[in-house]
Amino acid sequence: MIGFSTAPSTTVDSRGGTCMYSQIDTLRAQGPAVAAEFPEGFRAWVVTRGEVVRRLLPHPGVSRDLKKNVPGYEPGEVKWLSPWVDVESMSTAEGREHQRLRELVAPALTPERIDAMRPRLEEIAANLLDDLETRPPDEPLDLHTAYSQQLPTRLQCDLYGVPEDLRPEVLRILRVVLNTDNVPAEESAAVFTDMNVAMRTLIDLKRREPADDLTSFLLAARLDGEAPLSEQELVDMLFPLIGDGSQTTVSLIDHTVRELLANPDQLKTVLADPSRIDRENEEHIAFGAGPHFCPGARLARLAAHVAVPALFARFPDLALAVAPDEVRSPHSFIANDVAALPVVLRHRAVKAA
Ligand code: HEM
Repeated sequence: MIGFSTAPSTTVDSRGGTCMYSQIDTLRAQGPAVAAEFPEGFRAWVVTRGEVVRRLLPHPGVSRDLKKNVPGYEPGEVKWLSPWVDVESMSTAEGREHQRLRELVAPALTPERIDAMRPRLEEIAANLLDDLETRPPDEPLDLHTAYSQQLPTRLQCDLYGVPEDLRPEVLRILRVVLNTDNVPAEESAAVFTDMNVAMRTLIDLKRREPADDLTSFLLAARLDGEAPLSEQELVDMLFPLIGDGSQTTVSLIDHTVRELLANPDQLKTVLADPSRIDRENEEHIAFGAGPHFCPGARLARLAAHVAVPALFARFPDLALAVAPDEVRSPHSFIANDVAALPVVLRHRAVKAA
């Protein structure tokens, strides 16, 4: 059991999906920070107010490294947390070490480099949409699998030079890592090892055959007078970059499309003038705050800016195939996504035929 100075006031169920969303309402009603106990035997504060999170994220007293800061925490103890916290990555490092890792990655994610990815994103989107156009116009299909999930994962795999034969394994690992309560225990226990093996395979390949991709870039990256990233640092850095970078963007596209389809007036307004941004509160914390602010925020925004308008331009009569509140949540305590996004395309070419 991990030490905790305050007696927990509530027990949190770490199952995902609807269970997680309904718990959030309950926890919110209990206050801005709730001392909670998880069934896996660890305790944590659940912070339920954006303004409190905003103040905590950049605070030097807040650490993301469970291994060093939570008394009694044993790496590997909580299987679904392992890939996120039992690593030495940007996400878990603090202070000078964190700054070093950020500085090594920064040249790979400059605004110029990210903006230069637009043509590739447009190409991937166009290919996926071409494929969708061959599908029957009035038969429900899962847009999450056929489009939202494909675009960011293909982009990230391209960017990091993940070879075609390794991609199914990387995507499988991601699925297992994110599905925190619907995966057999043995699969869940093995996935941390699988993740290490897959990333080492990628690194070995790029050591033998460096190419114009970000894995090769990170292999060669070094700061003045400092050693390059160690093998383990590379492994721990690559998977979050490839995996988190794609899955979060998948959710952004899924939620945007679902909300626009559920609110046709808003969709009409946005399509008439895509440059509007009507939200009143722009101080959201979706990309975090402070030193850990998401280094991929610009790329995520760009991907959504390409994916969503291209989809509606090709399928202006796109519609949800189920009621908005029937769109299922995934079995995940980590990913705020949909399990599937059933739509009908209703494309004109076939309708007119
Ligand atoms: C809609 C899409 C995205 C969302 C909502 C998102 C959200 C976030 C948030 C909230 C954090 C801060 C976590 C913290 O404070 O500990 C973060 C960090 C991070 N994000 Fe993203 N992200 C997205 C896309 C991306 C992309 C496309 C990439 C890769 C190119 C990426 C790579 C990272 C990395 C490496 C970190 C760790 C940074 C650090 O700890 O210093 N993210 N992201």
